[in-house]
Amino acid sequence: MEEVILVEQSLKLTGEVHLSGAKNAVLVIMASLLLVKGKSILKNVPHSADVDQMSKLLESLGAIVKFDAAMHTLEVDATNVENYSIDHGAMRKMRASVLVMGPLLARLGKIALTYPGGCVLGKRPIDYHIKNFKRMGVTIHEDDNFLTAVTDCLQARRLVLEYPSVGATENILMAATLTTGVTEIVNAALEPEVIDLIDALRKMGARIEFKSPATILIEGVSKLNPIEHTIICDRLEAGTFLLAAAVTGGEIFIPEIDPGIMDVFLLKLEEMGHIVKSGAGVGGIAFKAARYPRAVSFKTAPYPGFPTDLQAPMMVAQCLAEGESTIEEFVYENRLMHAQELLKLGAQIKVGGHTANVTGVSELYGADVVATDIRAAAALAIAGLAAHGCTVISGVNHFRRGYDQLDVKLQALGAKINIMHSDSLKLKHSKWAREELL
Ligand code: UD1
Repeated sequence: MEEVILVEQSLKLTGEVHLSGAKNAVLVIMASLLLVKGKSILKNVPHSADVDQMSKLLESLGAIVKFDAAMHTLEVDATNVENYSIDHGAMRKMRASVLVMGPLLARLGKIALTYPGGCVLGKRPIDYHIKNFKRMGVTIHEDDNFLTAVTDCLQARRLVLEYPSVGATENILMAATLTTGVTEIVNAALEPEVIDLIDALRKMGARIEFKSPATILIEGVSKLNPIEHTIICDRLEAGTFLLAAAVTGGEIFIPEIDPGIMDVFLLKLEEMGHIVKSGAGVGGIAFKAARYPRAVSFKTAPYPGFPTDLQAPMMVAQCLAEGESTIEEFVYENRLMHAQELLKLGAQIKVGGHTANVTGVSELYGADVVATDIRAAAALAIAGLAAHGCTVISGVNHFRRGYDQLDVKLQALGAKINIMHSDSLKLKHSKWAREELL
């Protein structure tokens, strides 16, 4: 039975909220455990659908995975990994499945997979991964949608990325840890989640250094050891809470987040007139929404620029701000689809190419909308909190993929948000209709 998210207008979200572990860090660090024979333990693991999916993928390769969702602790024993064929379903359900490529090439010297294919965000090829593995001595056979990669011995090289792709940087990094010699990744992605992966790899015994500009040096070792590692907190979840507070006129405190990894995003919130307190004596981020926020323009970019994963929720804040803003999406070719859903709520947005021009309105109104990706789901939930009446969001699978109990955490701040079966919603609708008639 289909599930939907029902969001009712909820003003002034207030209180303290705790973050889960970062989705984009945990998935790649789980994949990196394939490099190690023995049992590793990850802590602060979010219970999201993508983590369940990555667990299944590791199990399908021969790893033993135990997840204690209540304790947010995940054990992976990759001693007996022998399978190198990635199930097509896994590739289709989660693009991050491609991140087992580097570890399997380093560990087994082979991998077979189908292409992840396009998604709603655009074509999303894996050519940067493939090109650089070829440079490292991997032979790649491509047949229709099927890809096999084999190598007798990975070679350390100086690799220049034409774009600082997060996934390509991570895949090469993992492969290079067990390669003889020094691999250099020039124009590497340096997202906090990549740095968390590097921290985990160093704990395993990998030798990794940084060099200016944006270069990572990896000196291969012959063996890596099991680790215990705590996943960093999710900066994208933090941004989601801050924007939920911003559009509802709220005041919240997030203790765990390091504000230094959200600089440009926080700068934009301050330009809007919101009060963001962090640093000495605060320990986290204290946020108070402006009464009459101003519209600001922004463009997405690789870290430390404005994160593409917060573009959709930030667009909601611009829809309700005073004035006009221009939002430019430079990371993905097609990541403005949420704009057409926001129009259904009464937003004023014109989209052309990779740009959205937003004119702020004083009110949004609840409607039925569709979430097409993880961050669009969060954005529509935020919009629903500010909109008059009720917003019904379908595409709950996207919401569950990226977040651990986001709905429950928002409820604790005062939000009226519930995931329910569409049949229960019909019953609720008829109750409202009856009440209106009385
Ligand atoms: C990761 C994040 C995702 C985030 C993105 C950008 C994970 C699990 N996901 O995705 O949430 O939005 O970083 O911060 O960590 N590209 C190519 N060829 C390639 C690889 C990428 O053209 O071989 C393009 C992509 O289509 C996209 C851009 O480069 O337009 C950025 O992609 P990339 O940085 O690789 O993102 P992911 O690692 O897939």
